[in-house]
Formats: sequence, C-alpha cells, structure tokens
Amino acid sequence: MSCRITLFELLMSIKIYEFRDAFFAGFYREYYHDNTFFHSTCCLHKPAYDLVATFGRSVMMWSQELILLESLKMKPVANEVVEKQLEWRYATKAFDTAKVIPDADWKTLEQALVLTPSSFGLQPWKFFVVTDPSKRALLRPASWGQSQIVDASHLVVFAIRKNLSASDIERFVARTAEVRGTTVESLESYRQMMVGSLTKPSIDINAWASRQVYIALGFFMSAAAMLGIDACPIEGFEPAKYDEILGLSAQGYGASVVAAAGYRSSTDKYATLAKVRFKAEDVITHI
Ligand SMILES: Cc1cc2nc3c(=O)[nH]c(=O)nc-3n(C[C@H](O)[C@H](O)[C@H](O)COP(=O)(O)O)c2cc1C
Repeated sequence: MSCRITLFELLMSIKIYEFRDAFFAGFYREYYHDNTFFHSTCCLHKPAYDLVATFGRSVMMWSQELILLESLKMKPVANEVVEKQLEWRYATKAFDTAKVIPDADWKTLEQALVLTPSSFGLQPWKFFVVTDPSKRALLRPASWGQSQIVDASHLVVFAIRKNLSASDIERFVARTAEVRGTTVESLESYRQMMVGSLTKPSIDINAWASRQVYIALGFFMSAAAMLGIDACPIEGFEPAKYDEILGLSAQGYGASVVAAAGYRSSTDKYATLAKVRFKAEDVITHI
C-alpha cells in the first residue's frame, strides 16, 4: 500500500461488498470481542478497512445501548431471573469461611435494610452488623451452637426499638420534615394519628415492632438472592444473651432475628435438597 494515498482515494477504493465486509467485521468484533477475522480476507486498503470497521463497531455499540435502554424500559429484572434466584437461595447451613462479600455488594445489602418499608414508615429498628470475631465467638453458644454465626462472611442482628414511645414518633416526624422540606407543625395531625394508634393499651408495641423488623429480614434475604449471595435467617438464638453481649439493651434495642450472609460451602448438603413448599394452589386462593 502506498503511503501517499489520499483519503479520497482510500474511500474510492471501497467497493460495496468490501464496505459491507468491513462494516460487519467491526460490528461482530464489538459483539463477540473477536479479532480473528479482522482484515484477514478483505482486500480493502487497511486504513479504509479500519475506518469502516470502526463505523461498524460504533453502530454495534449504539445498538447495544439501545437494546439495554429498551429492556430497562420494559422491566428492570426479568421474571426468569427473579424466579431462578428465589429457587437458588436456601437457608445456608455451612458457609465457606474463605469467602468474603465484596464491599460494593455489602453496601447494596445495607441499602436493602435502609429501604425496607414499615407501618407508618416509622422504622422501629436498628441493624447491628457484627464484624468483631470475638463477639461472634461469644454469640455462637447463644445461638444453639450454630456454625453460621462464626463462619459466614457477615452477620446482622435485626433489633427492634424497645417500647417505642412518643419521642420516637417525634424523631420520625422531624426526619420527614427534613427530607421533604416541610415543617414539623404541618405534620402535627399525622403525628397525633400515629401516637393515637400506637399507644393504645391493646397494642403490644414490641410485638408490632418485631413484625416490622421481619420485613427487613425478607428484604435482606431477597436482595442477597438477587446478588447471588447466600444467607441464613436465624431465630434459633437467645435474644436476652444477644442483648447483653452486644450491649443492645443499654441503647434501647432488643434482638429479634438474625441473618448470616456469605457464600455456601461446597460441602453443604442442604444446597442440593429439593425445596419443600405446599403447592401454589394450596397456599394461594384467588377470590
Ligand atoms: C425466621 C426464620 C428463622 C429461621 N431460623 C433458622 C435457624 O435458626 N437455623 C437454621 O439453620 N435455619 C433457620 N431457618 C431456615 C428455615 O428452616 C428454612 O428457611 C426453611 O426450612 C425453608 O427452607 P429454605 O429456606 O432452604 O428454602 C429460619 C427461617 C426463617 C424464615
């Protein structure tokens, strides 16, 4: 090839079928990340070939972006993915002690906790992430000796705000005013309605709070499943001992349920057991 060739001459040298070949070479190169047939058979001048192939490659990138945008417009997560991951998850009994949840994934799981909805939006809870191995060693005997407590990458204690009071409701009202850019005064009737509902003598406020915190457990486990992270919900523990070991009572909280999260051990025989669930028609009725 002459190095004195002009761009005009280059472009003029492109015949339709050569343009097509170069265009698709670039197109496929982007799609398959495969350079093998790059300029191997084409008789175009190489700079012209490169030019056209780059154009093909750009078109591929635009179309990939368009496809992604279109699929996002339709549905953020495909039905098959949700069902597959919910089937994939199981209450993990044996964790791989060598595997740690990456920070970015853990952050997402913490966001699942933060974003959990609750009755009135009151969030009567706190989530204690226990990272200190010595504390986790102390928790194990208070958890029926279950190995997940010490072996899993992460351990979360879902605690309720004990004996939720009018001052907790005021704190929530103040936060609502702050986030929504309004005044506490404008939320007065909302505050009174919440106080009226939750301070009735017939309400067991700690049982109510515990029901709320279980929603967070569900959110956490579902989010973990979607991220391909294993988890085990744990009720088999002594809440009073947890409160003491972690100093929860002193802060006005009480352990309600626990979750271990990480990655299943290849030796966990529970991973391959068939799921035992009642048939859909036995648990779901359409009225
Ligand atoms: C609230 C709750 C508490 C649980 N507590 C324990 C526990 O302490 N230890 C344990 O190994 N599994 C525990 N499990 C796991 C259940 O036994 C398990 O979810 C159930 O058998 C269904 O099986 P699957 O989760 O593997 O589909 C608990 C599950 C839930 C939802």
